[in-house]
Amino acid sequence: LAKLKRVGILTGGGDCPGLNAVIRAAARTLLGQGVAVTGILDGYHGLVTDRVRPLQDNDLSGLLTLGGTILGSSNKDDPFHFVEQDARGRVRFIDSSDRALATMQHQGLEALLVLGGDGTMTVADKLARKGIKIVGVPKTIDNDLVGTDQTFGHDTAVSVAAEAIDRLHTTADSHHRVIVVEVMGRTAGWLALNSGMASGADVILIPEMPFSLDKAAKVILERKRKGRLSSIVVVAEGATPKGGKQVIARINPLSPEKIRLGGISKVVADALEQRTGIESRSVNLGHIVRGGTPVASDRNLATRYGWAAAQLVLKGRHGVMVALKHGKLGTVPLSAVGGKVRLVSPSEPLVSAALAMGISFAKA
Ligand code: F6P
Repeated sequence: LAKLKRVGILTGGGDCPGLNAVIRAAARTLLGQGVAVTGILDGYHGLVTDRVRPLQDNDLSGLLTLGGTILGSSNKDDPFHFVEQDARGRVRFIDSSDRALATMQHQGLEALLVLGGDGTMTVADKLARKGIKIVGVPKTIDNDLVGTDQTFGHDTAVSVAAEAIDRLHTTADSHHRVIVVEVMGRTAGWLALNSGMASGADVILIPEMPFSLDKAAKVILERKRKGRLSSIVVVAEGATPKGGKQVIARINPLSPEKIRLGGISKVVADALEQRTGIESRSVNLGHIVRGGTPVASDRNLATRYGWAAAQLVLKGRHGVMVALKHGKLGTVPLSAVGGKVRLVSPSEPLVSAALAMGISFAKA
């Protein structure tokens, strides 16, 4: 195996706690083997437009606990449908993947570590087919990537959401209110399920189980009858009433992720107030759960993933994503990851445990 000289690293998609910890782990492992490391700025945008920064040992201090990504990220850029504006401001999509290859060559990058979710991995797979030696690292607070049991960042988002919901419990109690808390997750209910479980929510609404507002109202009224005057409802941003539609915050035709979800908590709170007569409030936790320092388990998962990804490129392996299966590190082909999502199945043991705890999914 010819000695590797330089490896690139980029962070794509929505940011997520632990990205910097992966950068640190991968770069430290590579630098330790005498391999230089180049950070690509702003995800695939920097790869197409040749914007980079070198990463040396000194740049890695303090990264283990730092939220966000020092490289910047973007969920708007796909090298195969790259947005360009002409002189008159007209927008067009151009296949700019050859520019990504040119950057690799120009920067002397022999391999690329790509930290991202399913959109980022879909593009990684396409770039790999064009000859870039890529190893993926599974990132997302949504925990919806196929091929791995866990993505880094999810535990932190769950912890931050659970702490917020704990706080909402006390104010809901004081005012005998219903508080509907919305968490992100796109089409997956993992974040709502795990944070709702951890904070003792009364009702959890997830995209995988279309809900009935009447049923949710019944649960709340039944609680009131038993003397429990407040209730907490956790709703995933992608949850829908049976036969209903997702609540969309914005449609962005220029982004690969065309639909931005958001707003279901207000719809649910208003409907529950109307049905129960109990004063209701809504809170959307939004990006709060994505920011800030990763919890210890995410720091360690990120470190293991970053180290494992660096080991793979050092051994000449590529075209794969590092993954966790039954607690063990392994790999999964990039082609098996992109374009799919891992959802909560109705037979998921966590759902059964939640039901046993008296949590309702208000399943229609
Ligand atoms: O995929 C991560 C995520 O935070 C989703 O849960 C959410 O729907 C989306 O990103 C929000 O994206 P943006 O950063 O564009 O607001």
